[in-house]
Formats: sequence, structure tokens, C-alpha cells
Amino acid sequence: MEREISEISGKALHELGLVAGSEALEGWRLTWLSRRGELSTLLSRLRDVPAEDRPRIGQEINRLKESLRKAYGEKKAHFDAAATREAVSSERVDVTLPGSPPSPGRLHLTTLTLRKICRIFHGMGFEILESPEVESDSYNFELLNMPPHHPARDMWDTFYLTENVLLRTHTSPGQIHAMKPAAPRPIRVVLPGRVYRYEAVSARSEFMFFQVEGLAVGPDITLAHLKGVLETFARQMFGRDRRIRLRGSYFPFTEPSVEFDMDCILCDGKGCRICKGTGWLEIGGAGMVHPTVLENGGYDPDVFSGLAFGMGPERIAMLIHRVDDIRYLYSNDLRFLSQFS
Ligand code: PHE
Repeated sequence: MEREISEISGKALHELGLVAGSEALEGWRLTWLSRRGELSTLLSRLRDVPAEDRPRIGQEINRLKESLRKAYGEKKAHFDAAATREAVSSERVDVTLPGSPPSPGRLHLTTLTLRKICRIFHGMGFEILESPEVESDSYNFELLNMPPHHPARDMWDTFYLTENVLLRTHTSPGQIHAMKPAAPRPIRVVLPGRVYRYEAVSARSEFMFFQVEGLAVGPDITLAHLKGVLETFARQMFGRDRRIRLRGSYFPFTEPSVEFDMDCILCDGKGCRICKGTGWLEIGGAGMVHPTVLENGGYDPDVFSGLAFGMGPERIAMLIHRVDDIRYLYSNDLRFLSQFS
């Protein structure tokens, strides 16, 4: 038995010396030190040893067990430390690596255009106001001189939320919102914001887009003021030499009503692909505020007159940047959006 003990000791320590990783070390522990391991077997055989030798042999086995445990512990500590070192060094920051540049956000093309439009009108003394996107039928239509069943309502395909609540189809209800609290004082406002139309999406039309509404009410505002305001705007937005043309049109809330065109920015009015050979680009609708609308806003139409206009910032941005499909603007493609800042 004593020979066996020293043999086991030699063999176990030799094998331990060959162990090269923590998995092998665990295998070694199972072979030698576990409850089913070699040392346990040895101890269980102690009862076959003559009684007088038992205490001594027992002590020797225990001593062997202790020394193997100790050797095991040292080896394990060694492997654990190596594993920790490896983990730490793999996490170490290499300060010489090139950095990854932050990609700062930027403003959307529509936002940039809206801000520029508002800045120009602000320079002409217009205040910037906003009005609700969810409107009553009354503000979107009735107070703008379109009673129920008025055929002009068909000009705007409408998203109704309930029978009398809808998503505004244009920013013109903002005219009433602006007039009511101000009357009878003169006002000059622009109202930028989203509008919604129940329409099929195509290269030329989205179901959600922006408008900028303009309104000026005062004692002697004339169509000449309207043209002057629009021309001043066109020159600051598109270039010094731009000209504006008013074409007779129809809106229920203006009288007279016009559509306004600007001479083509690409060909200076000679006729090209962008203006389809006409020399003119359509920019928006406008007119002199209808007396009924002035009255609905709280102004006496015998004393006050007003000019109003509406334009689409997307169309303006698309003309400036030669974008030929409005869907690029709202499909969240950074390859498109990051071109503008
Ligand atoms: N609200 C009209 C539209 O959406 C535009 C407009 C605004 C016309 C103001 C006249 C006056 O088409």
C-alpha cells in the first residue's frame, strides 16, 4: 500500500505537470481528487489494511491528498490569472487606432426650405404662426366660404376622422385662426405646416406635404401688394431677376383668385424641359381675401381688404435642387437626404 501511495503521488504530479489548460485541469481533478477519483478509492481500501498500520497509512493518504490539492490549487490559480490577463488585454483600448467619426444629424430638406421661406417673409414684416393639423369641417371649409355640399370641396380630397373632424387639406383654415384674435387690427402672417390629401401617391403628389399660407389684412391692401409680396419673395428665394405672373383662377375664399407663376429658373423664360416649354413655373394659389371670409374672421369688409397666398415648399425645393420625384423627400433614404444641409 505504501508503494502504491508513492506511485500514485508520482503519477498524479507527473500528469498534472502535463496539463496545459483549464479543461484538462478539470479532467485531472476528476481523475484524482473527486469523490469517485483514485484517492477516494485508495481511502476506501483502508479497511483491508491491518489495524495497527491503519493510522499511519491513513495519515499518508491524507498527506498525499493535501499535497495534490495544493498543487491543483496553484495550477488553477495560474490558469485563472492567465484567463483574466487575456480578457483584460482584449478589452484594452488602442489609442492609436483611427477614430470613427460621429455622424451628426442634419435638417431635412423640407425644414431647410420652410425656414428660408419664413425668413424671407419675416423680413417683409410677416409674423410666423402655426395652426392645427386636425381641423373641424367648419374651419377647413365653411368659414372659408364653402358651405356643406359646395362643389368646390371636391378640389380637396379629404381624410375625415369623424363626420365633422378632418385632417386639414390646406393651410387656409389658418387664415381664420389668425384673423379672429387679431381683428380689427391689421395683420401680416405666414402659417407653415403639414396638410393631408386623400390621394394616390405619385412622383408629383404625396398624401402628406407642407404648405406655407400667407395673409395680410389692412385698410387698403390691393392686388398690387399681392404681386409685390410674391415677387419680392421669388427674387429672394430664386434670384434677383425673377418675375411673377398672375393668372386668373378660382378659389372660394378669394376674389379675385389667381395662380401665380414665376419665370423659369433654368431657361429664364425661354422655354425648356423643366417649364415644359412655357417659360413659366407654377408656384402657388393666391387672391384677395373674399369679403365673406374677412367677415368670418371678424373684419368689416367695407373697411378692410386682404391678400392671401399658399405655396408648396416641397415643390420649391424640388425646383431649386432639380428633384424630379416628391417621394424621395419622405422615404427616409439617407443617400438622398444627406445631400442637403
Ligand atoms: N389653399 C389653396 C390650396 O390649397 C391655396 C390658396 C391659399 C389659394 C390662399 C388662395 C389663397 O390650393
